[in-house]
Amino acid sequence: MRFRTVLAGICALFPVVLFPGFSASAKTPVTARHGMVVAQEPIAADVGLAVLKHGGNAVDAAVAVGFALAVTHPAAGNIGGGGFLLVRLANGKSYFVDFREAAPGKASRNMYIGPDGKPTKDSLFGWRASGVPGSVKGFAEAHEKWGTKKWAELLAPAVNLARNGFTVDKTLAGEIAGSTANLENDPESKRIFLRDGKPYKAGETFRQPELADTLGRIAANGARDFYEGETARKLAAAMAAHGGLITEADLKNYRAIDRKPLEGGYHGYEIITAPPPSAGGLGILQMLGILNGTGFESDGPNSVKAVHYTTEAMRRFYADRSEYLGDPTYYDVPVQQLLSPRYLAERRDSIDPARATPAAGIQPGRILSAAAHVNQRESSETTHFNIVDAQGNAVAVTYTLNNSFGSGVTVPGLGFLLNDEMDDFAAKPGSPNMFGLIGADANAIQPGKRPLSSMNPTIVTRGGKLFMAVGAPGGSRITTGVLQVILDAIDFHMNPQDAVDLPRFHDQWKPDILYLQKGFNPDVEAALVKMGYNIQPINDVARVEAIIARNGLLEGGTESRHNGKVVGY
Ligand code: GLY
Repeated sequence: MRFRTVLAGICALFPVVLFPGFSASAKTPVTARHGMVVAQEPIAADVGLAVLKHGGNAVDAAVAVGFALAVTHPAAGNIGGGGFLLVRLANGKSYFVDFREAAPGKASRNMYIGPDGKPTKDSLFGWRASGVPGSVKGFAEAHEKWGTKKWAELLAPAVNLARNGFTVDKTLAGEIAGSTANLENDPESKRIFLRDGKPYKAGETFRQPELADTLGRIAANGARDFYEGETARKLAAAMAAHGGLITEADLKNYRAIDRKPLEGGYHGYEIITAPPPSAGGLGILQMLGILNGTGFESDGPNSVKAVHYTTEAMRRFYADRSEYLGDPTYYDVPVQQLLSPRYLAERRDSIDPARATPAAGIQPGRILSAAAHVNQRESSETTHFNIVDAQGNAVAVTYTLNNSFGSGVTVPGLGFLLNDEMDDFAAKPGSPNMFGLIGADANAIQPGKRPLSSMNPTIVTRGGKLFMAVGAPGGSRITTGVLQVILDAIDFHMNPQDAVDLPRFHDQWKPDILYLQKGFNPDVEAALVKMGYNIQPINDVARVEAIIARNGLLEGGTESRHNGKVVGY
């Protein structure tokens, strides 16, 4: 009692430093000795675990999980979208498969500018919103290079789940209900996902026979079916019939690209992450580089000092993102300059230790209102999974349809949803996309080009040994969310469960708003307001998942706020 009174007195004097806003998770991380899968949908996580237990490696499991999610998590799991796969093999070599969607051959720079000069909604909804899908090619490429099990065997669970159905849980029922407006515009989506006005409730069985047929052909004939076979022909014909852009030639020409992962050091750890056309990986390295040496960590996680310096690093990265980042095949992205120690020191030195640096004065753009951000449903758009196997191979995959349920279009007879990834391009310089992100020439639309992404599957090592696999969905908040979980693990020594559950913050330079998740110490918030931050609440800052390897054990964390699952053996 006496101690409490004294403590309360001390807190009144130094509230911010003593109560930095840290709240430990009620959950302990799941641990396992041999292999682990963390995914955002439980059935798919179990599919991955079964592959590992039957002797498949992490890449085999990733292929199986990727296709299973296309059935059980249709809001984001997909064969009609694209993404990134990062693998670090047990021999220490790392590889990155870019299977991001590509703009169709008929795409053009101003295709989403209306007669009034403003961007239309065509980049988000309907047949014209889709880039050429990359997921099937991406998984096929990874399988060909590093897989050990038969392709058809790895797709069998997905075919089975689509054919025989699975039990809808509350999360899926809620995601479908939340996307009614998107899905009801397309007759096939309305029929399949909304059952023509009687959407699936939790506990009901959801069967997808057309998707089962498509997956069955891909299982039997490989990625060829999707890019040159029956699926390709039907997809291109449907596109032509509905004013879409993707042709058989686009599909045939699509390539998954092997890129060198970006790598950098931070506080004794090696960070291996996504290169452009991800902006996220460069963002992670840039923000870590800016933070390094600021002492931001001295008062603990979510302290005023930690939030201030991290936010300032975020703002500087997002300003660079808008100008310099795009598909490196089409735009000379100045990666070296943006990550050079000298440049990072300049950016670091521009931070005022006591004041927020306002976003004003940097190139203007029409931005999403604060309210639009707060109310955005997070984050059934995009999904991420991490897998580590008994040999020590690690895989981190983030892939997406962009918006939840993508463009809302399901290809008739094929049963899969199409992406609206074209919205990740800068449709008009300075005009924000769905995530409020702005861009310029670097990310302008060109045929064949891949839109800039925030997705950044990341693997962290220490002394050449695997330490962490991490990633998230969440649009523009992916990068800031993943950054914070890396800081929590490295600088604040948290286990992955505490790290992913800790409340997070997000700032993307424009709008000039610092978003805070629920759970921050009010004294911290008040101090940040005094420093000049315009603070708004936000539901989620990405949905981060992580595996940490230490002391011969794998520890997994998936946010208690959501429905993911960690499984291991
Ligand atoms: N579609 C979201 C992203 O790639 O950042």
